[in-house]
Amino acid sequence: MSPTQPDHLAALRLAVRRRLLPWFARHARDLPWRQEPRDPYAVWISEIMLQQTRVDTVIPYFQRFMKRFPTPAHLAAAPMRDVLKHWEGLGYYARAHRLHQAAQVLVRDYQGRLPDDPALLAKLPGLGPYATAAIASLAFGHPRAALDGNIMRVLARLTALPGDITRSATRRKLQHLADTLLAPKHPGATNEAWMELGALVCTPRNPRCSACPLARLCKARAAGRPEAFPQKPKKKKLPHKVVGAAVILNRSNQILIAQRHPDKGMLNGLWEFPGGKRRDTETMAGCIARELREEMGLTLEVGPRLVIVHHAYSHFTIELHAHFARILKGRPLHLDCADHAWVTPDQFDAYPFSKADHGIINAMRALPRPPRQRDYF
Ligand code: ADE
Repeated sequence: MSPTQPDHLAALRLAVRRRLLPWFARHARDLPWRQEPRDPYAVWISEIMLQQTRVDTVIPYFQRFMKRFPTPAHLAAAPMRDVLKHWEGLGYYARAHRLHQAAQVLVRDYQGRLPDDPALLAKLPGLGPYATAAIASLAFGHPRAALDGNIMRVLARLTALPGDITRSATRRKLQHLADTLLAPKHPGATNEAWMELGALVCTPRNPRCSACPLARLCKARAAGRPEAFPQKPKKKKLPHKVVGAAVILNRSNQILIAQRHPDKGMLNGLWEFPGGKRRDTETMAGCIARELREEMGLTLEVGPRLVIVHHAYSHFTIELHAHFARILKGRPLHLDCADHAWVTPDQFDAYPFSKADHGIINAMRALPRPPRQRDYF
């Protein structure tokens, strides 16, 4: 069925005003970024956090972030390490770097406020079409239809939209549909009502069609298979990486940690136990020794294993082997890292680490006492 069928479209437009918006008024969750009047800064922070992360996960992060950085000026003035520490565990760290950059633009060009103009919002670092539309509509009432994964699912089901949702032609159709269905006097509420319907009723699996205010108009339901939409390509099996990391102890029993490049690759700007991917032909000790030579110019003796941490990222799974090590030759250089520090285990909390590296920290803290070089070498 095509979303451009005029009768269905007209019926949907009416139903947005008569059914969806009243349903939303009754069922909207009381979320911390929904306090009226809306603070555009809070809308911005929440929308960026929510882009790749679930509402339940975001709530405590949002609250801590807003307490520490209550305005764009506070965010702009904060050191990046502090911002990353408040983002630690949320993933997609480029989002945090761009927020920080955008806060500086706001202070420099807009008196520390978000501009009430979608064209200017769209120019800020980190604001793509979704976030621009969400902020423009929710914070400022501009008639912009936001399209995220939840909204795409709801609209694809209502219209039984054929076509792979990951293709830009399908997305263009959905954007056009969302634009057409936007209630011009209530753009923010329309966008959030779709999100709410996707989160509470029109869920990816086992949608609660009996509770849906638009059930009678839903083509996917009429076809008896709401879960068949949106159409997606088959999921490929995720690649698996085997990675070695060194817990390097010096004679004072401090541990060497390194900072990843802030503007390069994934987990950018985070701190880690230095190491890298094992090659097929290498032993784990050989991998760790080579990585530390390449990354920091160090010659190591690699000792016993502390732990193997398993973690699933969005695009691969990882098996992180942490071994104790000591330096035989050299001082830490920044050949392929941004910074380094020698710290004791009680100082780890001052640095932002990835979830996998937290697995190493936890294993270290589970030892009967903090590790000492002479225990292992
Ligand atoms: N997901 C993205 N933005 C949201 C919002 N404003 N409310 C609930 N879920 C969301």
